[in-house]
Amino acid sequence: MIQLQQLSVVYNRGALTALQPTTIDFRRGEFTVLLGASGAGKTTLLRSINLLTRPSSGSVSVAGELIERGRTLREHRRNTAMIFQQHQLIERLSVLRNVLAGRLGYYSALRSLFPMSQKDRALALHCLERVGLLDKALARVDCLSGGQQQRVGIARALVQQPKVILADEPVASLDPASARQVMALLQTICREDGITAVVSLHQLEIARAYAQRIVALAEGRVIFDGSVDELSEDVVRAIYPQQQSV
Ligand SMILES: Nc1ncnc2c1ncn2[C@@H]1O[C@H](COP(=O)(O)OP(=O)(O)O)[C@@H](O)[C@H]1O
Ligand SMILES: [Mg+2]
Repeated sequence: MIQLQQLSVVYNRGALTALQPTTIDFRRGEFTVLLGASGAGKTTLLRSINLLTRPSSGSVSVAGELIERGRTLREHRRNTAMIFQQHQLIERLSVLRNVLAGRLGYYSALRSLFPMSQKDRALALHCLERVGLLDKALARVDCLSGGQQQRVGIARALVQQPKVILADEPVASLDPASARQVMALLQTICREDGITAVVSLHQLEIARAYAQRIVALAEGRVIFDGSVDELSEDVVRAIYPQQQSV
């Protein structure tokens, strides 16, 4: 569904190759985990999928249509919701307001200055219900736990009614129990809604538990692409080279 064709990203005027030329197809409805040590290129790859990071070479297409600029890029970005490690919520605003912010991609800059419609409000409440936080709709975000805040992050992504979710280390700052709860929720929602998900993680155990497909990166190169069962010890050692000698 989303095809990256020989896509590469270099920084510092070519001095640093963050992503080697990569060809990969993220299939519709598939839950892919991008696995890799810090600096492997996970964020770079994720952000290239909706061209927040501009590739230095290669291309992105969705269902065969090349995504570069203009209307196709706007539509692609609207269909693609993002979830971040530091959830990027506005802490002093209510949970509901934060979720509604996910609708902004549907409006012009001018329209977004006006109050949201009843329909959007109802949709936002429905999304909060799905993540189990309807009773927190009017609470301030900074009163919630880390795991709850990330569930708000999921609701904000959902209100965008996305076809694709890109999540960049969504559970990196959570304790293990909350991390699993958030991953389970994300997995269930993506399955129910047929959302194509690409989720970066650095924790192997969480990847094994939730991924349908694992794409592993090391030093900007895809070194593995397959199912959890196919992930061998050799690949794991290649993903985490600094731990090899321990
Ligand atoms: N905006 C940037 N400018 C220069 N170098 C960058 C930038 N973003 C990332 N890098 C470098 O690119 C490499 C890959 O980074 P990144 O994609 O953030 O990896 P990961 O998300 O796996 O930790 C790293 O060496 C990082 O330092
Ligand atoms: Mg990163």
